[in-house]
Formats: sequence, C-alpha cells, structure tokens
Amino acid sequence: MQKSNIFRRNPVLKRVAVALKRLTLVNSSRYYLEQFNRRFAQSMVPGSMILDAGAGNAPYKSLFKHVRYESADFEKVDKPYASSTYVCDLCDRIPVEDGRYDYIVINQVLEHLANPGAALAELSRVLKRGGRMLVSAPLFYEEHERPFDYYRYTQFAYGQMFSRAGLAVDSIERLEGYFGTIAYMFECVFRHLPLLPSRKRAGVRATAFLVWPLVVFTKLWCFLLACVFYRLDMKYKLCDMGFPKNYVAMAHKPAAPPLAS
Ligand SMILES: C[S@@+](CC[C@H](N)C(=O)[O-])C[C@H]1O[C@@H](n2cnc3c(N)ncnc32)[C@H](O)[C@@H]1O
Repeated sequence: MQKSNIFRRNPVLKRVAVALKRLTLVNSSRYYLEQFNRRFAQSMVPGSMILDAGAGNAPYKSLFKHVRYESADFEKVDKPYASSTYVCDLCDRIPVEDGRYDYIVINQVLEHLANPGAALAELSRVLKRGGRMLVSAPLFYEEHERPFDYYRYTQFAYGQMFSRAGLAVDSIERLEGYFGTIAYMFECVFRHLPLLPSRKRAGVRATAFLVWPLVVFTKLWCFLLACVFYRLDMKYKLCDMGFPKNYVAMAHKPAAPPLAS
C-alpha cells in the first residue's frame, strides 16, 4: 500500500499529518526570503510602482502596501493563485509600457522560465532607468511545479545573465545558511521514503522484513533532524561552509550613458 493510499482512505489522518508537518517543519528559506523582501520594501519610496513577477499566491504582497503593487504570472500550474494584474508569460511580453516600474521582485521564478534571457530582457524593458530589482532562485532543490522546471543557478550565472539584459548586479548573497541545506536534505529523505513496504517493489519485497524497519527508522529520524536543523538555521545562518539552497541577488538598471558632446 502506498502512502498516498493511506491518506486517500483516511482524510482525517491526512489533515493531521499536514498540520503536524506545518507545525514542526518550519522552512527557514521562506523565513529569510521574507526578511529580504521586507528590507527591500522598507527601502522603497512610497507611491512608487512595483512589479511582482511570477507572483503565484503573492506571499509578500502585504509588505508592499505603501507602494503601487502589480503582479504578473502565467497561472498555468495547478495550484491556488492570487489573481494577477497581468496574466502573461514573462518570456514573451508583459503588456505594459517601457519603464513603468521603479522596482521588481522575482522570487523563486527564474528556474521555471524556459527562456530566462528573454524574460530578463523583458523585465529590463519594463524597469525604469535607475530602478532596482530583487531576484531569488534555487541552486539546490528538487524538481517542482512540473513540467515548468528547467534550471538551477550558481552565483556566477547572475552577473552574466543580467549584463546581457542590460542590468547590473549589485550583490549576491546566500538566502539561507548551510544548516538550511542540511535540513532540506533530511526533509527530502523523510518525504520520499515510504512508510509502508510496497507490493510493487519486488526486489525489496524479498528482504522487506529486514529493510522495512530500517526505512521507517531512517524516515522518522530524518524528520526529527530536519526540524532541528531548520530551527538551527534560523538561529545561526552559517555562510562560510557548504553551499546554500538559494541565492538572492540585488540588481539595477543603469542610468543612460551621457550623450557625447
Ligand atoms: C515557485 S512559484 C513562486 C511564486 C512566488 N513568487 C513565491 O515566491 O512564492 C513560481 C511561479 O512562477 C510562475 N511562472 C513560471 N513560469 C512562468 C512564466 N513563463 N511566465 C510567468 N509566470 C511564470 C508560476 O506560475 C509560479 O506562480
């Protein structure tokens, strides 16, 4: 019997499991991403225009109450969306005039763009000269929002991609510390190992008697370790070892070069 079957047959059990996971597995990356977005929001001039590109369910919209907030998303994934100001493909055309926005945030979207170069050029078009942009994207994360998942980004990719789009990168930082990456690895083991042996896995069935207790022990132990390491990451953001799950870059569109006399 698969895990999903147990939950399909017991919706109450499923609700308890989801609630328990929410209570215990706090995602430190989202905690830090909220902080980056909050600091960016606090630096914004009241009344200016911001675009949330690939906004999804717009988790940071409430941080931008003092500015004029617009969002763009292609809304093609089977998940809940906040209704977007513009339903459009970022790789194609955002239906607004050049230089409309003072600021752009594009959180956890770059990896989903089939043509990131075209999307960055389009974002550069709609950003004012001198306008600023916050970008976050994963370096290390499993496939998600399938089939719209194409790339992962090293810190060295940003400078190259952005300068091609006429944007200058000001800073690149790790989103979370190494404890966050470790926690995520434990979380993956916990999520992907089955709770019960499967009738379909013939090879494993022969040794299920020996393997199953080890699998269950590993699954539960990794859950515990994930909870501990996520919390450690929120207390101690270690950036001098290992590697992050995500990078956050700040960029701007340079002012026009002076005219030759
Ligand atoms: C992982 S979600 C991130 C959502 C939100 N920014 C956040 O931080 O939670 C990626 C979002 O990008 C959107 N997206 C992916 N490819 C897109 C494209 N080509 N054009 C517009 N939106 C796109 C998806 O619909 C999805 O809402």
